[in-house]
Amino acid sequence: MEKWRAADRLLKFSSRFASAVNWNNSCKSKQGKYFYSVATTVHRNPLFSSISPDDISYFKTILGERGVVQDALALDAANTDWMGKYRGSSKLLLQPKNTEEVSQILKYCNSRCLAVVPQGGNTGLVGGSVPVFDEVIINVGLMRNILSFDKVSGVLVCEAGCILENLISFLDDEGFIMPLDLGAKGSCQIGGNVSTNAGGLRLLRYGSLHGSVLGLEAVLANGTVLDMLGTLRKDNTGYDLKHLFIGSEGSLGIVTKVSILTPPKLSSVNIAFLACEDYTSCQKLLLEAKKKLGGILSAFEFLDSDAMSLVLKHLDGVRNPLPPSIHNFYILIETTGSNETFDKENLEAFLLHSVESGLVANGVLAQDINQASSFWHIREGLPEALMKAGAVYKYDLSLPLEKMYDLVEEMRVQIGPAAKVVAYGHLGDGNLHLNISAPAYDDNILAKIEPFVYEWTSKNRGSISAEHGLGLMKAAKIHYSKSPETVRLMIDFDYCVFELLPDTSCLDDNHSIICLCLSA
Ligand code: MLT
Ligand code: ZN
Repeated sequence: MEKWRAADRLLKFSSRFASAVNWNNSCKSKQGKYFYSVATTVHRNPLFSSISPDDISYFKTILGERGVVQDALALDAANTDWMGKYRGSSKLLLQPKNTEEVSQILKYCNSRCLAVVPQGGNTGLVGGSVPVFDEVIINVGLMRNILSFDKVSGVLVCEAGCILENLISFLDDEGFIMPLDLGAKGSCQIGGNVSTNAGGLRLLRYGSLHGSVLGLEAVLANGTVLDMLGTLRKDNTGYDLKHLFIGSEGSLGIVTKVSILTPPKLSSVNIAFLACEDYTSCQKLLLEAKKKLGGILSAFEFLDSDAMSLVLKHLDGVRNPLPPSIHNFYILIETTGSNETFDKENLEAFLLHSVESGLVANGVLAQDINQASSFWHIREGLPEALMKAGAVYKYDLSLPLEKMYDLVEEMRVQIGPAAKVVAYGHLGDGNLHLNISAPAYDDNILAKIEPFVYEWTSKNRGSISAEHGLGLMKAAKIHYSKSPETVRLMIDFDYCVFELLPDTSCLDDNHSIICLCLSA
């Protein structure tokens, strides 16, 4: 729980890249409780070997004693995801210090048919960053060097294990910012962020990592190092293969280095916390904000009344910024620009107009940095508050804006009094975080949620994973968001990557998380 301390904005959740070689999955936690639909239970692929003393000796020769971790406590942490929902039984954690070591590890594991799972900050929310069975865990956390920073172009080149918050601090000193900001910044690593195409709080302004990542280096399952670490804005020489590694959750290889375009830090940041009485007003407010704040709008987040009540109940020191009562919806708006006076006046005029036109019921503009971070704390603290409330079923959906809250209301009818439906998310990006909070995990509750939530999303042409990835939770659900032909092409592509390479013959149909979706 510590890792998600919202007060310090030190939350974590992003690195959940799946395995370059391990694609055996199951749907049951250690406690035997299912947290999602069990229609697709899978088993350990018998073609994979188990770790032997010779393997351990080999890894020690390339990584030294320190890089080969067999300590029970450390393994327990690496086997368990942040939510405590997904738990593997790996007996070995490897900590390479550079790309060459990653390459040697993968080459060896491939030759021995040892399944692996890459792991960054282990902050994922879909069970993608921990082993399912006894896979070798490869954690790139020791690869944390910043390799270069160009102050003119704003291009940062660094190793995959750099913690996002450290990159943010480094850039702050240089007068720049990361185009990516997450509640999990204190623990998540840039390699995991890229491998999972993490979204976060600034996507509205700076776009997804497909836009900001200019290049990367990745190691394939047979140890081949792919140098795609370009720093150019423009490069039209053939297929832009780096994009396949952004968001593929490690299914094609392990990202080891990243080059990323960072924007300059702007001096004027303003934050408003507003209340709306209905969802239609929230949508209209977003449209108005885009029109009136256009260039300076940097975040447009929302939470509903159940989300606000939850934060007030479970997070220490949080108070309602708009007392005395709880409103139906809350919106956090952030603007970032370079003209202090103009930006503030602009936001104030926008707020005044929104109140006068009845879109906003009440609102407050942060007067200083402490008040600003207290507003952010309410929004960023939600994952932690949910964990403190008990069991939580988390869904991360992209939906057409006008339909988004219909799902929340229908889910409340569907679930009844057995659990609370808590909604928040990145409204400006059309991304709903739908959470069902219950006192304890219960198969009857789960049966009411799934497949309803996936069918509803599919019917409305949404995505079952807006930013959290597929992981173990949703690998077999991909067909709700992608056509059979698209999934087929993904599988074919995956085969190409593996089968065109020498020495990958030990893997069969189960070698890919995507294959799993169809074969399950
Ligand atoms: C967030 O936006 O807070 C994160 O994606 C985590 C979550 O969905 O709970
Ligand atoms: Zn989010």
